Amino acid sequence: MTSAYVLNGPNLNLLGTREPEIYGEKTLADVERSCLDVANELGWALQFRQTNREGELVDWIQEAGRAQSAGEAVGVVLNAAAYTHTSVALQDAIVGSGARVIELHISNVHRRESFRHHSYVSPVAAGIIIGFGVAGYPLALRALAALDAS
Ligand code: DQA
Repeated sequence: MTSAYVLNGPNLNLLGTREPEIYGEKTLADVERSCLDVANELGWALQFRQTNREGELVDWIQEAGRAQSAGEAVGVVLNAAAYTHTSVALQDAIVGSGARVIELHISNVHRRESFRHHSYVSPVAAGIIIGFGVAGYPLALRALAALDAS
């Protein structure tokens, strides 16, 4: 069965209690459930993960790229959180692994502090979903399906 990866970076384990005026009141478990509904509808297995460690995200992107090359994965929805704005290693992992990545942010980062306006992920992402709250996650899975069909 084809897998879709949804990879979440630092502090996203705090969703629901972390700055709810910015990120909303839904928890990461709620987000996982909404992704599972769409994955089931699309006939995909779901790899839904969160880590506070940059290297673990690198490992997972490489894993997704290998699975994609083997025809076993459709790609990655990546909310790299703060590492988006700092991590050359994530950009290198995406390019080096060949993983198809949809970059996602819950908040509209372009309405926020200027340090959030730069992304190391954007130049190597297949597409970007920003500012739709946690509703962006199922949208991003549908975007992966659209790319896969095109
Ligand atoms: C975020 C935006 C980032 O700037 C921030 O560091 C996060 C979450 C978002 O989903 O809006 O942790 O990626």
